[in-house]
Amino acid sequence: MKTFYVTTPIYYANSLPHLGHLYTMIVGDTIARSKRQRGIETYFLTGTDEHGINIERAAQKAGRTPQEQADYVVSYFKRMTSAFGLDTEHGGYDIFMRTTAPFHYQGVSELWRRVAKSKTPKGNDAIYKGHYEGWFCAACAEYKTEDEYQKGDPPTCLIHDTPLDRVSEESYFFRLSDYAEALLDVYASRPNFITPETRANEVISFVRGGLQDLSVSRLRTSVSWGVPVPGDPAHTMYVWFDALTNYITAIGFGNEERERVVGFEKFWPALHLVGKDILRFHAVYWPAFLLAAGIELPRGIVAHGMWVDPNGRKMSKTLGNTIELDVLQKHFAVDAIRYFCLREMVFGQDGRFGYESLIDRANSDLASGLGNLSSRTLTMIARYCDSRIPSGKISEEKLLFAKRTGVDTDETTVAGFIETARDQFLLHFENLAFNRALEAAWSVVARVDKMITDAKPWDLAKDENQRQTLGAVLYRAAESLRWLSVLLYPVMPEASRAIWQQLGLKEGPDKIDPSTLKWGELPEGTRISDVQAVFPRLDKAQILSEINQTDQSVKSAPPSPPATDAPEGITTFVEIDDFAKIDLRVGQVLSAERIPKADKLLLLKIDLGEAEPRQILAGIAQYYEPEKLIGRKVVIVANLKPRKLRGYESQGMVVAASYGEEGRPVIATFTEDVPNGARLK
Ligand code: MSP
Repeated sequence: MKTFYVTTPIYYANSLPHLGHLYTMIVGDTIARSKRQRGIETYFLTGTDEHGINIERAAQKAGRTPQEQADYVVSYFKRMTSAFGLDTEHGGYDIFMRTTAPFHYQGVSELWRRVAKSKTPKGNDAIYKGHYEGWFCAACAEYKTEDEYQKGDPPTCLIHDTPLDRVSEESYFFRLSDYAEALLDVYASRPNFITPETRANEVISFVRGGLQDLSVSRLRTSVSWGVPVPGDPAHTMYVWFDALTNYITAIGFGNEERERVVGFEKFWPALHLVGKDILRFHAVYWPAFLLAAGIELPRGIVAHGMWVDPNGRKMSKTLGNTIELDVLQKHFAVDAIRYFCLREMVFGQDGRFGYESLIDRANSDLASGLGNLSSRTLTMIARYCDSRIPSGKISEEKLLFAKRTGVDTDETTVAGFIETARDQFLLHFENLAFNRALEAAWSVVARVDKMITDAKPWDLAKDENQRQTLGAVLYRAAESLRWLSVLLYPVMPEASRAIWQQLGLKEGPDKIDPSTLKWGELPEGTRISDVQAVFPRLDKAQILSEINQTDQSVKSAPPSPPATDAPEGITTFVEIDDFAKIDLRVGQVLSAERIPKADKLLLLKIDLGEAEPRQILAGIAQYYEPEKLIGRKVVIVANLKPRKLRGYESQGMVVAASYGEEGRPVIATFTEDVPNGARLK
């Protein structure tokens, strides 16, 4: 029996989840449903990460104990996962994992003992006691190196903008530095271990840059809310060691009872779904711990991009631009949200989330697209065929009549089209390219819609000689809907079931392996059920105004940039002298690299024909591969006042055109040869 195990990160129990957290759960749930649909015994894990200083502090602030804080967040999570159909009751997760569960304590202690007993590939002890001195960010649960904080007293985290804690204490270390080669071997021998490829390359270059040993404990006197280090209770385990291990303790590692109920042997290794923000922990630290403990590595680690707001800013509580689950749930159907998330985000890249785009997509693709196809087909079957699925066949004697209408008398044309679309759908799905899979499914919606419009069943119904032609057209449409509800079940479980049920079918689309679908298996004569709209149309103005009244984050978000590429009008003029103040120079890119934890920025060294190259930061990382920029001639604002970004001084600015809703940058360049340092006038 084949099995499959898929996980989301376990989320910090310090604050309530938002759309970003929901998203990884939706992806996990979709994958789990598609595996189950294909008869594979599947285990799907999500849950909460409940230990560490961050939760201790959140609890203190809220006047709760850490356990009460965790319980409070978990109860909200459970309410939301139920409302969004992601819990066990709705066919979603198999476990909501909590790191405060006693079996987890047992399992994580067992893993520590195993690692502590083991030798590194270089023959050293994998864990040793030492002394740590450095800056720690509680929110990241991570020590920060010099290029990862903003200098100051105390320095602040570049990600959270919060003060770092000075830590100077005894600590256990995991000898990560001895695992670099072993990890690089894994990445080289298993090209799909980390996906997408761009993310894998980032991890590989990080590891190639050399690994430092990792502090894996804090003194109990500094952090008490956590799992004690086995044999040395004066130390608390590092929260990431504790949290990552949940993936194996949940299924029975280190606990016989869990092993009996779920089965480590049965389900491990897992596919880990994570946001790119925490890829390093999963793709470097976690495999290193497992290598040390002699445990098989995960099946794979998949890093998706981040949801950003319509203005391109990452969702965060501090910016007040998070999409709250309560609001989403109040105004939108679960399947519309699932569809939007999977259709809109190109897996691996960042995606924009705006209520307006959600409403637009729900109306165009769902209400007017699939929903309309379903209701028009079923309504016509009710009206013209006495609510029974008609025969799809056209007899010899009626063939000529059918041909006269222009209807394709050969049903294998549409059958062939939908089979090809199904194959593409499944291929893209397998590669987690959900957006492309959905495009393939919607090519069927468009095709069948056109077939109906061209055939004009309402006219065929008026002619007794065209009864069979009418039946054939409606059969093809209904059969296509049957296929679509099977294909789309993992993405939109409720809507698929509704279409299935309206077609008068028993069992459910969740029980049918899409790869086994055969054209023509919709039984003729099946009585359809009452026709109901599967995706009601959303009133955009009304919903937006309701959300605006209730949701602070939308109110506070600045207005979206214009959605067109039309040039903005020139409103003011400058004198030539004003323009002359700007010193624009030709430069050449000598080196370009990404900046850790700054998704948008590239760090460039640019030759302006001066004694020393300039260091310039450019917000183009999402659009330009650094390697491809090397050697390129660019235009630089050379007399722009230097300023610091992410701890780096930027000595000028690269000139680029900016267009489209996203403000996509296109670097200005020259087609003729021009020396470095030449001035633009
Ligand atoms: N507790 C750790 C994970 C431990 S796993 C062993 C943690 N928790 S978290 O609450 O910060 O969750 C981070 C994850 O939430 C991301 O990796 C991603 O899966 C999801 N997201 C949070 N914000 C997000 C967006 N804005 N967009 C997409 N997903 C995001 O890190």
